[in-house]
Amino acid sequence: MKSEVCVLVLALCGCVSAQLKGNQEDPCQLKSRVVGDQTYCDRYWECVNGQPELYDCPNGLVFAGKNRGVTEGCDYPWRSNYCENKQQVNSPIGTEHCDWLYGIFGHETSCTRYWTCWNGTATEQLCIGGLLYNERTHSCDWPENVDGCQKHPLCNDDPNGNVPLGKSCNRYWQCQGGYPRLQRCPAMLVFDRRSLRCVVPPTEDCDVPSTLPPPPLEEDDETNIPQNNPKNKPQFNLPPGAIPLPEKNRPRN
Ligand SMILES: *[C@@H]1O[C@H](CO)[C@@H](O)[C@H](O)[C@H]1NC(C)=O
Repeated sequence: MKSEVCVLVLALCGCVSAQLKGNQEDPCQLKSRVVGDQTYCDRYWECVNGQPELYDCPNGLVFAGKNRGVTEGCDYPWRSNYCENKQQVNSPIGTEHCDWLYGIFGHETSCTRYWTCWNGTATEQLCIGGLLYNERTHSCDWPENVDGCQKHPLCNDDPNGNVPLGKSCNRYWQCQGGYPRLQRCPAMLVFDRRSLRCVVPPTEDCDVPSTLPPPPLEEDDETNIPQNNPKNKPQFNLPPGAIPLPEKNRPRN
């Protein structure tokens, strides 16, 4: 039946496009009008003017499904098992900092930085809050999860010392064997930038904390510090402690 329709259509309009082969699903038989190629995960078929047409995903991306992925129904390959039992047919097109035209790649010289590439244009990104770029998960992660980059530059001076956090009076970094952890001074104490410990106020920079009203967010605090904060809840399977890319940098359809 399917082949009869095909022959009929070909006979009527004489159009020839890439032929559906084997068990390849026909996008024109589907409500979505688009379907992944059965062999190659970076190709898909779309029904155009009643004909199945074959398309490549943007370089570095693979087919995820209609209205899914980061652009044109295509997504970063590592986001899911898109290429399970399939091959990628296209070769990488590299530009400066980008292994493929689209993707997220490690930095050449820094463990806290990485590149997001969009159509070959690289944008430098920074992991904040004591995190390092994890090449395996393509996201910011706790240092102990990042092979080859275990120690964070924050803790270079003293792998087990305390480090001030901006101008914060009650929060600071505590380095533990080179790994920074965010800490808060006990109630009524403030972090003293000189002695690098929590002390009874006032200090040079910090007055006695007022009990009312609750202190507003300090401007120099990094507001995006990953804690067990539901606002930072990842939208897909980021590792614990990782933060997603800032909204404005996240590619959209
Ligand atoms: C990608 O960049 C190329 C050349 O730099 C340009 O011709 C093309 O239109 C761009 N494609 C998209 C989807 O932005």
